[in-house]
Amino acid sequence: MTMNLDNCSAVITGASAGIGREFARQLASRAKLLVLVARRRDRLEQLRTELVARNPALLVNIRQTDLSNLEQTMQLAALLTNEPIDFLINNAGVGDHGSFATADPIHVNEQVQVNALALTVLTRALLPRMIAQKRGAILNVSSSAGFLPLPGIAAYAATKAYVTSFSEAIRAETRDCGITVTALCPGPVHTEFDEIANRQEHRRKRRNSLVHVAVEKVARAGLEAIERDKPLVIPGIAMKIAMAIARALPLSLLRVASGIVKDDRN
Ligand SMILES: NC(=O)c1ccc[n+]([C@@H]2O[C@H](COP(=O)([O-])OP(=O)(O)OC[C@H]3O[C@@H](n4cnc5c(N)ncnc54)[C@H](OP(=O)(O)O)[C@@H]3O)[C@@H](O)[C@H]2O)c1
Repeated sequence: MTMNLDNCSAVITGASAGIGREFARQLASRAKLLVLVARRRDRLEQLRTELVARNPALLVNIRQTDLSNLEQTMQLAALLTNEPIDFLINNAGVGDHGSFATADPIHVNEQVQVNALALTVLTRALLPRMIAQKRGAILNVSSSAGFLPLPGIAAYAATKAYVTSFSEAIRAETRDCGITVTALCPGPVHTEFDEIANRQEHRRKRRNSLVHVAVEKVARAGLEAIERDKPLVIPGIAMKIAMAIARALPLSLLRVASGIVKDDRN
């Protein structure tokens, strides 16, 4: 089921920063309509100005929404069912580095709501129309953290395991309906993510590593995977190799390995 993204109408959650903003930039010259979702309206307006200046024919709608709030998410879902959306990018996400027992309960709730629940609600809302039109694509931004149980980011990694599993199942359910579903599973990417996820005691300087991949490359890999109908994509060769090894290991070895590498993933 291949999907040509030319003239698509896409909704991008978490478009005010990082990978989501980059999706918007890369799609702007090809899409007909972009619906940008996040809490920071000023950021979304700046982005709209930038995108429309370069692509005057592009229509950009802003939907300021707090996806950790179920009522707001449901309202957004209802609004989106009235728009001709054929490409849903569930990208918004938050993390939290540190032991689960000391995590802020509100932040724990936010991770589950934004990373897993909002993505599920939006998928449920938009899928029927895509199926009826026999055309549509869903790109769920998961994480390589979803492949492993990860002490230090336990709840975050578990939400991403949900995203990857959910994406595979929805893909299988919609195989005959003209829909493509892809889970994008990046390793570390320099965005605002770590600044927000790191608690005060874990704040540290930005570091580069072999497994870091540039935000432009991550977004490109996601869009290409949709156009090639790939079920799952891990951007960057180093991360691909690392995850191929990790995914082949039995859980007994993973228990040991996750203890060793607990501090450095998202
Ligand atoms: N960066 C990494 O190393 C990395 C690695 C693997 C996977 N990922 C995944 O990639 C996705 C994008 O992350 P990023 O790296 O681009 O992070 P980022 O720069 O922090 O951007 C996160 C985006 O999510 C939005 N968001 C967060 N909470 C929200 C809420 N309650 N309601 C609505 N929008 C919300 C933010 O917008 P507002 O704050 O304006 O609401 C922002 O636009 C996430 O799903 C993340 O888990 C990131």
